[in-house]
Amino acid sequence: MATTGNDDGPNLQQQVDLLKQQLGQAQKMTALGELVSTTTHEFNNVLMTIINYAKMGMRHKDAATRDKCFEKIYAAAGRAAKITNTVLGIARNRSAGREPTDLTELVQNTLVLLEREMNKYRIAIDRTFRPIPPAYVNGNQIQQVMLNLLINARQAMPRGGRLAIKLLHDTENDMVDLVIRDYGCGIPPDKLPRIFDSFFTTKAGPDESGKGGTGLGLSMCRDIIETHQGRIRVDSTVGKGTAFTLKLPTVSKIQQKRPPLGAPVTTPPGVIGQPTVNR
Ligand SMILES: Nc1ncnc2c1ncn2[C@@H]1O[C@H](COP(=O)(O)OP(=O)(O)O)[C@@H](O)[C@H]1O
Ligand SMILES: [Mg+2]
Repeated sequence: MATTGNDDGPNLQQQVDLLKQQLGQAQKMTALGELVSTTTHEFNNVLMTIINYAKMGMRHKDAATRDKCFEKIYAAAGRAAKITNTVLGIARNRSAGREPTDLTELVQNTLVLLEREMNKYRIAIDRTFRPIPPAYVNGNQIQQVMLNLLINARQAMPRGGRLAIKLLHDTENDMVDLVIRDYGCGIPPDKLPRIFDSFFTTKAGPDESGKGGTGLGLSMCRDIIETHQGRIRVDSTVGKGTAFTLKLPTVSKIQQKRPPLGAPVTTPPGVIGQPTVNR
């Protein structure tokens, strides 16, 4: 059958859909690659702790030393289990289902995954966790967003530094705010509007731990936050640092928004936010 000009519309749309799908796949593969790299190193670190305390316990026969060794081994094994559970959760998760989630616990579990990496790059982490209500999110997806933001923050401070992580309840909007602030290089004003674009990167390529340089991290974060009816905001000053704020809906907010049975379904304006860029 001959093609006519009329076919251009649907064909182009199909191509756009296909490319979007491929982009989503590329984002996932990149995230998975970075996750494997991070968690394998962290896991090795835990194994070293276990091996060293096991050796110590075998060398020293006294009960006190052995007790201490067992305690250390037990704690390290608990960390190892947390690491593998997270990886399994993320690898298994194919659905985009959301549920009431304790973000404080989720943040803590995510930080467990980066303990060694942050130590290695001499990055200290300040945590300010205020009491927050449960958020209505897909925990695995939010964890991936956090990993992206935390790794970007680490890469913005190649000589080490400080990272501040804050959780609070924005009572006015009934959202949970997660702020990840670094005191690193910052983002120049001309680049700031482009950082959420797919493939926009200022990095020469992946670093020695195989992370970054694809320009897919923040575009994935934006996509995930948009499907959560949340917002992602950035504030940055060159030479001072960068803060990303995630705003995620609480369970009560989602319940309020649910239309009564039979009512037409509409999306409230301004809820699905494009990323906001503040200078
Ligand atoms: N915390 C940050 N500090 C400074 N620049 C950042 C930060 N986060 C992101 N950027 C900038 O945004 C760009 C895009 O980030 P991202 O999408 O994660 O891709 P990638 O990390 O692969 O470069 C980065 O290359 C960097 O220029
Ligand atoms: Mg990145």
